[in-house]
Amino acid sequence: MKIDFQETTDDLAKRIDIHSRFGSRDIDEWMLEILDLKPGMKILDVGCGSGKQCFSFFHHLNGQAEITGTDVSESLLDDAREKNKAIDNAVDFRFLDFNQSFDLPENHYDLISACFAIYYAQDIPFTLSEMHRLLVPGGRLFTTGPMPANKHVFYDVIKEATGKPIPPMPGSSRYASQIYGTMQDLFSKTEQHIFENPLTFESVEPFMIYTRASMSEDRKLWNSLFQTHEEFEKVMGQIEEVARKRIERDCKLVMTKVVGGFIATK
Ligand SMILES: C[S@@+](CC[C@H](N)C(=O)[O-])C[C@H]1O[C@@H](n2cnc3c(N)ncnc32)[C@H](O)[C@@H]1O
Repeated sequence: MKIDFQETTDDLAKRIDIHSRFGSRDIDEWMLEILDLKPGMKILDVGCGSGKQCFSFFHHLNGQAEITGTDVSESLLDDAREKNKAIDNAVDFRFLDFNQSFDLPENHYDLISACFAIYYAQDIPFTLSEMHRLLVPGGRLFTTGPMPANKHVFYDVIKEATGKPIPPMPGSSRYASQIYGTMQDLFSKTEQHIFENPLTFESVEPFMIYTRASMSEDRKLWNSLFQTHEEFEKVMGQIEEVARKRIERDCKLVMTKVVGGFIATK
């Protein structure tokens, strides 16, 4: 399954910023709670983007860990490397396309994480098997992704604004159909955790910053709603109108992120 998706540095940074300003819970803290990291661990982060989880793991362990961050996007890796200078380049950031075999040491990592990334893999069993191969026995794989109840209000506003169905989102649809089942098949033990984070918008502007960064033309997941820049702008206008009316009516718009965290032990 080929997923036509390309994350951009700017869109990712805007979405991360909106979560930290309008969310009521910190997802990094939740991950650290359920992962129970130990000093000296060897950690591989796959689909690391600009390094959010790598830096969170690094600071939590006071630098006592071997951390490698990998991604297919050179511009996101450049961004991560720029931030890495502040910690003396302690994280090893390198290119890795998770659709190809992983050119990294086998039976080596205590933890492999893939946060908001695994569902873009072309062949889930292949990518998960590669991760399994690189873990030490007893090592853990951690993946996260949106669940079916995720951002219900966001999709509801888009449906009302455009009168069109929401295209299937790879995260929520592929976890249920494939990812969790494959993790159960390959690993000896799996567990699920759920994180809910309501994002509260009292004005329409930040909601639209999030919406634009989420549906941006570069992400290509929304081709059934717009093809050209003009169509994109028209849809943004329609969404803004619906969101504005809801905020006027209810004084706020609450969009709840519902994220699954899946830990599998080799
Ligand atoms: C939504 S971002 C998440 C980034 C980061 N983990 C975070 O939570 O901020 C998804 C990431 O998956 C990466 N990705 C997509 N396809 C990939 C592939 N074939 N190989 C490696 N990374 C990929 C993207 O470049 C992007 O950085």
